[in-house]
Amino acid sequence: MQADTKLRFHNYVVANYTRYPVCLVRGVGSRVWDDEGKEYLDFFPGWGCGILGHCPPRVVAAVQAQVAQLVHVPNTWHTEPQGLLAEALCLRTGWPGAQAFFCNSGTEANEAAIKMARLHGGPGRFKIITMLNSFHGRTMGSLAATGQPKYHAGLSPMLPGFAYAPFGDLDAVARLIDPETCAIMIEPIQGEGGVNLPPAGYIEGLREIADRHNLLLIFDEVQTGMGRTGKWFAHQHYSIQPDIVTLAKALAGGIACGGLIARPEVAQVLKPGTHAATFGGNPIACMAALATIETIEQEGLLTRATEIEALFRNRVEAIMPACPWVTGIRAMGTMIGIQLAVDGAPVVKACLERGLLVNCTHSTVIRLLPSLTLTDEELFQGCSILEEEIARLGQPTS
Ligand SMILES: Cc1ncc(COP(=O)(O)O)c(C=O)c1O
Repeated sequence: MQADTKLRFHNYVVANYTRYPVCLVRGVGSRVWDDEGKEYLDFFPGWGCGILGHCPPRVVAAVQAQVAQLVHVPNTWHTEPQGLLAEALCLRTGWPGAQAFFCNSGTEANEAAIKMARLHGGPGRFKIITMLNSFHGRTMGSLAATGQPKYHAGLSPMLPGFAYAPFGDLDAVARLIDPETCAIMIEPIQGEGGVNLPPAGYIEGLREIADRHNLLLIFDEVQTGMGRTGKWFAHQHYSIQPDIVTLAKALAGGIACGGLIARPEVAQVLKPGTHAATFGGNPIACMAALATIETIEQEGLLTRATEIEALFRNRVEAIMPACPWVTGIRAMGTMIGIQLAVDGAPVVKACLERGLLVNCTHSTVIRLLPSLTLTDEELFQGCSILEEEIARLGQPTS
């Protein structure tokens, strides 16, 4: 990394991130390059935002055309891109009468969902049940919804009204409900929490509980949405319909965009004055999102997500007998977690040195969110590096 970049960050950028000493300057598909010309294969593009990899051509073209026509107007006006995107998303849920609201990030999408749940609940019904180990964002409402005490540290008092159940435990959810409860909120697959898949019957059971107690069921699909799991939305793998789905990350192929989709009787609680986002639904983000949807559809990428899952599974399962410290692989589409019995940080570091970008969450889960455009060749090339570095974890350190 250039010394002046390093110095500028040191002097002028708040140090709230653990950053690698690498400055990325350019990307194409699943490959990125740093300022010294080193090439990396990216199995974690944009922390889940790069569902089509870096600089997807249709998204680039859509943004370039839009930016020359109309950059931004606030929501006091109608724009064609916002209407088209709302229609495209709502139609893909298949829910009759669904409506969309737009903002700029995942945490904002969840804030809007929290407000909707309270407004829909009515006076005195404000509590929301979320799950332990969940991750819903960093603004104060979404943070309170996040069931991980480490993220609350030093920030008390939290927004009141959240109660946390262990992920997968229906009885625990039922026990937490009281007359003040208005909603259950869940990631259908916990992402940051370790790529945790819901046990059989759990998602359907949550719908039953919500119906029995007249609660909204909110799905945070910020990470699982937009084709990541092989369907447009992860809830479509189950025979239920949530009341609200929140989206961000991959929504606009790497351009900042967040939003939610709600059933009509829920959507109508957000009346003028109850909620807003100045940049929400701006024409550039909406055109980028439309180009993302078009690419996924025209290139058959929902099917490709499932193929990529199978290829990763085969590779990881093949090394497990020789690497007993690899205790499992959890995956749905291109949301992949390799469970280790040991610390995974050395793997991330060694892969970076060898030009492969991967993530590790909760110390022992190697997390991959590869692009749906990842080729077989790229997958095999990256897996070879990853396998060698995982195998090295078993070697005695000198
Ligand atoms: C499931 C989930 N919800 C919400 C968020 C927050 O999204 P953002 O960082 O865009 O605010 C994340 C981010 O990782 C997430 O994974």
